[in-house]
Amino acid sequence: MTISMRFLKGYFHMKEYDCWLQGGFKAALKAELLAAIRAEEGGVPDKGTDAAILRQAAVELRDGLLKRFGVRAVLSGEPGESGIFLGRASWFLERYGERLPEIGGPGGFHIGVSEDRVVIAGTDAAGTLYGVFRFLALLALGEIKPGSAITESPAVSFRALNHWDNIEGTIERGYAGGSLFFKDGEARYDAERLCDYARLLASVGINVLSINNVNVRTSSKLITEDCLPQVAAIAGIFRPYGVRLLLSVNFSSPEVIGGLDTSDPLDPKAAAWWKERAALVYRYIPDLWGFLVKADSEGEGGPFQYGRTHADGANMLAAALQPFKGECVWRCFVYDCAQDWRNTAFDRARAAYDHFKPLDGQFADNVILQIKHGPYDFQVREPVSPLFGALTKTRHTMEFQITQEYTGQQIDLCFLPWMWQDVMAYDTGYGAKVRELLGSGGKGSPSASARGGLEGLAAVANTGLDNNWTGHTLAQANLYGYGRLCWNPALGAEEIAREWCGLTFGPGKTARVVREILLASYPAYQKYNAPFGVCFMVEPRHHYGPSIEGYEFSRWGTYHRAGREAIGVDRTGKGTGYSGQYPPAIAAVFDDPKRCPEDVLLFFHRLRYDFRMKNGKTLLQNIYDTHFEGYDEAEAMLAKWQTLENALPAAVYQSVRERLERQLVNAREWRDQVNTYFYRHTLIPDEQGRKIYA
Ligand code: GCU
Repeated sequence: MTISMRFLKGYFHMKEYDCWLQGGFKAALKAELLAAIRAEEGGVPDKGTDAAILRQAAVELRDGLLKRFGVRAVLSGEPGESGIFLGRASWFLERYGERLPEIGGPGGFHIGVSEDRVVIAGTDAAGTLYGVFRFLALLALGEIKPGSAITESPAVSFRALNHWDNIEGTIERGYAGGSLFFKDGEARYDAERLCDYARLLASVGINVLSINNVNVRTSSKLITEDCLPQVAAIAGIFRPYGVRLLLSVNFSSPEVIGGLDTSDPLDPKAAAWWKERAALVYRYIPDLWGFLVKADSEGEGGPFQYGRTHADGANMLAAALQPFKGECVWRCFVYDCAQDWRNTAFDRARAAYDHFKPLDGQFADNVILQIKHGPYDFQVREPVSPLFGALTKTRHTMEFQITQEYTGQQIDLCFLPWMWQDVMAYDTGYGAKVRELLGSGGKGSPSASARGGLEGLAAVANTGLDNNWTGHTLAQANLYGYGRLCWNPALGAEEIAREWCGLTFGPGKTARVVREILLASYPAYQKYNAPFGVCFMVEPRHHYGPSIEGYEFSRWGTYHRAGREAIGVDRTGKGTGYSGQYPPAIAAVFDDPKRCPEDVLLFFHRLRYDFRMKNGKTLLQNIYDTHFEGYDEAEAMLAKWQTLENALPAAVYQSVRERLERQLVNAREWRDQVNTYFYRHTLIPDEQGRKIYA
């Protein structure tokens, strides 16, 4: 079937595997304009990474035009009058004496369209590649026309995706099949598929990729000579796409793979071991971004074992990486997971700030602290971590979780950019919103000194070997949205949904309906989940579905303490004092239950069930209402999807429908278990008399 016939039939043949790089579009530019690609490095033999990226950019443009628009373009290095001109801005100047508009920082590009020329110019090789992908995306969305002039550059230089893949081939918190990189204890992969993955990541600007789990365990051996050739081969696949590898390393490696009797960061033996090891690793992968470390957390070894600080630990690794311009990305998810639930003075939410704020300024220049966006652990709703804005002398990055551990495990639909936009819009109280801290690349932000600021994002990947990459086809939107957010933290959920739906489902009505479903999904999920930011009412271990007291008496430090009269943890100055980690003006808002944002009300307060919320109803009635509404909204999402039965390939339609049906079962469990639990505790009925299981 030809592309135009598809349009005549009004049928856009969405292929799950292709994600947001679908075929079947019609370009709003005349074919002659697209017929020749005059590219810097088009067809030139290898001369290093930049050349490889530039060549890839030209190939992506040619192949993308053919596959996505049915336009056959010839790739040539020849000068000419018309066509698409592709290269670095410096090339335009040298070759054509042409000065292009000011583009901005690394990775940026300019796209300009005139009657007989399309210009795609990057500040550098990666920018040229990003310009190609953006050009193709905007062309598909119908936003490229004669006269278009677009200039963009990424807000931050560190746009990372973290895989939690184990070399056995499994994925910790993975919901989309096995690992793309590993199987049976070694690196084993489908090279063609990895190229497709690299393309997807580059198309949204992701430039750092860690391939192994932060709980390193058996993948500790990846930095040995047994495995390094394989890891280097993976790095080679991603390199032409401007994506550099980062490796998760085991802090205890000197003992685990080095045979030493210590990993003490202040012991010269351990430090020397890491220096040698880094040199070995960089022999195989000269452009490795660096090491990613989870230390002293949930059973992983770390500096605390030796009475050392996290600055001691991170700086030792940083020193080993420094000769190679490598960076040590050090996670701040450090807390004591051996709690006694009886101890109400303990508050896990305090941990990251308590551990890391006092160390601000003590980290080497090539250390980046990686901080989860909330103080707990990727819950459906948490306040933003008080470390953002508070760290002024240490480079750092914010960590999200795209894989839906606590947000429905890619069975339930939950469009995460909805939550991320709230994080970005959060005013830290230090003179900037999170997105402003990011937007300035950390350098010029009000709170950052020359040595450090918030300069990147990282997120745990939601991809695996499933044909549609993400288990739930619509969960592709979360990966897309994350990349776009790294590029531009000011992008809202609606804009991201509009782009993704248009690119994935084409120009018709289907995209509009899917957008409505996506945008409804996060509010629905939040409503039927744990109420008002109280968190952790999930099934222990696997974390799918409700278990109201599943973590109530465990060692993990995550308690809601619901009783007959009240629920929640008092984290104000009168309670655990957590709110005092925020600047006073912000703390004052959180401390006042009348002013505290209601979606985190129970995160900060212990409140009686008859507490009056802003709508005049009691807390308890609001719990009932949100849980009935959340279920109804999930039901409406399914009904809306069912209207698309004839508009989509059967397999796509069925797989999403099946998941939305399972979501409804889950939403029903949440609704009924939460409502029943609170009814049984309070014996106060729902004022609307809806069904609660007394
Ligand atoms: C969560 C998750 C773990 C993961 C950890 C982390 O606690 O359940 O599987 O290892 O986060 O971020 O390190």
